[in-house]
Amino acid sequence: MSEAPLVDVKSLSVEFGEGESAARVVKGVSFNITKGETVALVGESGSGKTVSALSILKLLPSSASHPTGEIWFDGKDILKADDRFMRTIRGDKISIIFQEPMTTLNPLHTIEKQVGEIIKLHRNLGDAETRTRVIDLLTKVGIRDAEKRLDSYPHQLSGGQRQRVIIATALANEPDLLIADEPTTALDVTIQAQILELLKLAAEGDGHGDAAHHPRSRHRTAHGRPRLRDEGRRDR
Ligand SMILES: Nc1ncnc2c1ncn2[C@@H]1O[C@H](COP(=O)(O)OP(=O)(O)OP(=O)(O)O)[C@@H](O)[C@H]1O
Ligand SMILES: [Mg+2]
Repeated sequence: MSEAPLVDVKSLSVEFGEGESAARVVKGVSFNITKGETVALVGESGSGKTVSALSILKLLPSSASHPTGEIWFDGKDILKADDRFMRTIRGDKISIIFQEPMTTLNPLHTIEKQVGEIIKLHRNLGDAETRTRVIDLLTKVGIRDAEKRLDSYPHQLSGGQRQRVIIATALANEPDLLIADEPTTALDVTIQAQILELLKLAAEGDGHGDAAHHPRSRHRTAHGRPRLRDEGRRDR
């Protein structure tokens, strides 16, 4: 492949704790993702899919360390990057949709504020422009009468609508890499299919939100080729 990978994970290990109580939960996993590609991380529960994904954004708790590995993104090894650099790429070049949708949205903030905040953090836009962009995004992710939803709070939305808002937030700054960690677990089957279709469109669409992390095999068939890496498996 001629194009350099967007993200290149090399021999990544993740360990929790120190000394004798240390538990190495990921052991030397390697994979890369090129622009426009969808890659699924597949493995049994507890095999380290979520902690590997969180490593890419450096969102693991301080009890976690990386005894081995490099994560190359944008010419930098993320594992060596400082907080300042991470803040500039989180929610901008790399977005993540978490496993538990209910805990992702802030119950005290309106939809306009939640989606608008991430845009304003990375773009120099005024209130009116941000509002237009939020309405645009909400419409794009399939929320009807988006303008009327701006003042709603998360509890006033259905589970499917909430997940659409989360996706709108993740897509807000047209990320190069979109990480989705079981984005449909909490939804019923019909809505799951719609959300997966939406993510597929986001990945194909305008070349943004390119790569997703889908642990379930069903997601794999919907979204692209799976990558199974024996070297990353935990010893059991
Ligand atoms: N904060 C933490 N402290 C200690 N151990 C942790 C922590 N977070 C995760 N682990 C451990 O790391 C291992 C990998 O967890 P992870 O959440 O990545 O699994 P997963 O592959 O995403 O599983 P699932 O399919 O159930 O979501 C597990 O053994 C888990 O107990
Ligand atoms: Mg997980």
